[in-house]
Amino acid sequence: MTRGTLILGIDTSCDDTGVGVVKLNTDGEVRVLANRIWTQTVHASYGGVMPELASREHVERIDAVMGDALAEAGIAVNDIGAVAATSGPGLVGALLVGLMYGKGLSQALGVPFYAAHHLEGHIFAAASEAELRAPYLALVVSGGHTHLFDVPHEGQYVLVGATKDDAAGEAFDKIARLTGLGYPGGPAIAEAALRGDPNAVPFKEPLQGQKAFDFSFSGLKTAALLAHKAGAKPEDLAASFQRAAVHALVKTTRRAAEAHGRQTVVVSGGVAANRALREAFAATGLRAVFPGKGLNTDNGAMIALAGAAAIRAGRPPSPLTDGAVAYAPLANA
Ligand code: KG4
Ligand code: ZN
Repeated sequence: MTRGTLILGIDTSCDDTGVGVVKLNTDGEVRVLANRIWTQTVHASYGGVMPELASREHVERIDAVMGDALAEAGIAVNDIGAVAATSGPGLVGALLVGLMYGKGLSQALGVPFYAAHHLEGHIFAAASEAELRAPYLALVVSGGHTHLFDVPHEGQYVLVGATKDDAAGEAFDKIARLTGLGYPGGPAIAEAALRGDPNAVPFKEPLQGQKAFDFSFSGLKTAALLAHKAGAKPEDLAASFQRAAVHALVKTTRRAAEAHGRQTVVVSGGVAANRALREAFAATGLRAVFPGKGLNTDNGAMIALAGAAAIRAGRPPSPLTDGAVAYAPLANA
């Protein structure tokens, strides 16, 4: 093995127990060595994530997930040179499990600890695929977030736009549920859309003519509900909705890239797995960077990548007194 630092990353912000390992080489290059995720199923019968159950399940699973990650990376626990864990935003009880585990591990090993921001983790997931150097624009589209940031310098995040109502992934999930396509909605809609007609259901472009760079999905959701009641076929609804959502995301991000003079756009979060979205970004002529396989949805490797970025930037380790935070804006300018 070439010389470098092995960084363990932990994410327990919601209902996935994620542990990953990355290697930061002395020349600054990073590589993902392991990415293990335990997706909780206890919430299925409730139709949403039950915070207390999520915390308990993280406690029960985290040791095993870490063992799997170390095995996948082919390393021993003593090889770890730094630990990173998500401190927010997320469910506080769930976050605390990974955060305390990470802090304890760093102390037991005598290595630095880095608290990571969940959204910064999503953005750095793209560093698995390409060298990520500011300036760039970052679109984070997941089940809980739809944020557009300008990143003029490493570690500086300027919020350029956000959703005014539902998150993009939430809209995929709700429309999939409405049409009986199943859960999680994103992959179900994407799959059904392959068999549907994207012109079958007319969707009005949300926030048409806006000067800002915001997003809105509740109008699309209502239009989908009306079309469903009027008898639209689920696959036609899926194809038409997907096209409208992708169009809105790409058009606004492209305008923001032009306004800010950025050529590189990072697209991350669960919805970044969507093939139609990837193809639409590829057609813009912008340099669109997406996370590698298995790194779009919540995971620990993205937190290890955020830790690697902090080390590379020379940021000091985090104080162990910092706790978990439910609401934590990433924008710092
Ligand atoms: O990043 P993530 O795991 O969770 C949050 O941090 O919120 O993202 C999960 C979201 C879900 O809403 C899911 O439906 C969506 O990402 N998603 C997709 C696809 N795969 C996952 N949405 C559209 N197309 C996909 N292929
Ligand atoms: Zn997430």
